[in-house]
Amino acid sequence: MHSQNLDHSTKLSLLDAIKPEHLADPYTIYRQLRETDPVYWDEEIGTWVATRHAEIMTVLSDSRFSAVHWLPTDDNDSPWISQETLEQGGTVLRAMGRQMIFLDPPDHTRLRGLVSRAFTPRMVQKMRYDIQLVVDQLLDTIVPLGQMEIISDFAFPLPSIVIAQMLGMPPEDREQFNVWSNAFGSILTGSSRTPEELMQAFMNVSAFMDYFRLHLAERKLHPKDDVLQALVTAEDHGDMLSEEEVLSNCVLLLAAGHGTTVHLIANGLLALLRNQDQLQDLLYNSEIIREAVEELLRYDSPVQTIGRLAKVDLKLGGKQIRAGQQVVCSLGAANRDPAVFNNPDWFNLRRPDNRQMAFGYGIHYCLGAPLARLEGEIAFPALIKRLPNLRLAEQTLNWEPTLGFRILRELHVSWDH
Ligand code: HEM
Repeated sequence: MHSQNLDHSTKLSLLDAIKPEHLADPYTIYRQLRETDPVYWDEEIGTWVATRHAEIMTVLSDSRFSAVHWLPTDDNDSPWISQETLEQGGTVLRAMGRQMIFLDPPDHTRLRGLVSRAFTPRMVQKMRYDIQLVVDQLLDTIVPLGQMEIISDFAFPLPSIVIAQMLGMPPEDREQFNVWSNAFGSILTGSSRTPEELMQAFMNVSAFMDYFRLHLAERKLHPKDDVLQALVTAEDHGDMLSEEEVLSNCVLLLAAGHGTTVHLIANGLLALLRNQDQLQDLLYNSEIIREAVEELLRYDSPVQTIGRLAKVDLKLGGKQIRAGQQVVCSLGAANRDPAVFNNPDWFNLRRPDNRQMAFGYGIHYCLGAPLARLEGEIAFPALIKRLPNLRLAEQTLNWEPTLGFRILRELHVSWDH
């Protein structure tokens, strides 16, 4: 990793946003970074950081940036993982390197094309009724209680039941998915820092793949009508996914689609409960739900940062980026950029022309966005309609100190019953 001489005095680091004093509201730090130095070299994390909507759009749509090496591999000098640990986790890392999210064209184009044939907006729309059913059933149990911890009681089970159902996995296995998909997330975000933690994470991802391997073998004997089967049979001009590619991308669908949706529901509900006027608006005007979900995604975005690697020397926002250097794109900051969002800190469910970037931008734009949106469009109205006078319980909110995601540990709520 190269170091960079700053020609001016950017003292702040993106890491400041996750210090205890800023964790509840990292947006103040993002604003300072955006205002003082929108593309800067962050000494503490050893990467460039971009905080404006415009430059982030450039990074995510310019083919001079690569998604390939964002994943730490055994041949790059990752800022947080030792060479030895990387070598030990090589198998898992290579498998993760077959996931579309870490690939550039033409590999990305090929994989995304094939996976998209299996995970289609039509398949997602077919889930509408089932999602409503899951939401209703979860709430049937919860409503009489008068209180709950929304993450474990509702936000967590919903997307895991839905994606397990889509992939054709037994619902009783979903507890295990959590451990595995958390492990996946911790490798991605670098939150597994010690070699022991990292090795544990590698073992969990490896178990995750073995699990899918078993189900895949079963599908060969007894084909089913689900996304896993569709992945096996997806074809494009005679090209098909290899077994390893099916496995790697199943892990991706499950891991990418779970935690993110949990955080959308938790963070979104928190925003609604803190802005009762907006909650009432949605309660009495359910036709605004689509634009409301866009604002819930923008305001406290589940994914806060994504990264890319410069393939060549290039200029970004007036700064000289060298080939091989990483650029961290702060989606959380982009989503509060006043150049794009009028009065960006205002939570406004009727925000016009909402160009939120919660799902990223460009060729890696979230493949699961239609599913996440649908879950949000069904979950939020159901929660506020079925839980009368829904309110925050007395509590201290705890956020995970991680740069990659905006994760609330618990959210206690109560209602009249
Ligand atoms: C609120 C929920 C979600 C959020 C905020 C979210 C966010 C994102 C973001 C920011 C990216 C771009 C990553 C990058 O460019 O490096 C992405 C990609 C992706 N997401 Fe999501 N996601 C969500 C839900 C889902 C769901 C439900 C699924 C599938 C079940 C999913 C599957 C994927 C996949 C496969 C990619 C990689 C696409 C590619 O590389 O072409 N996501 N997501």
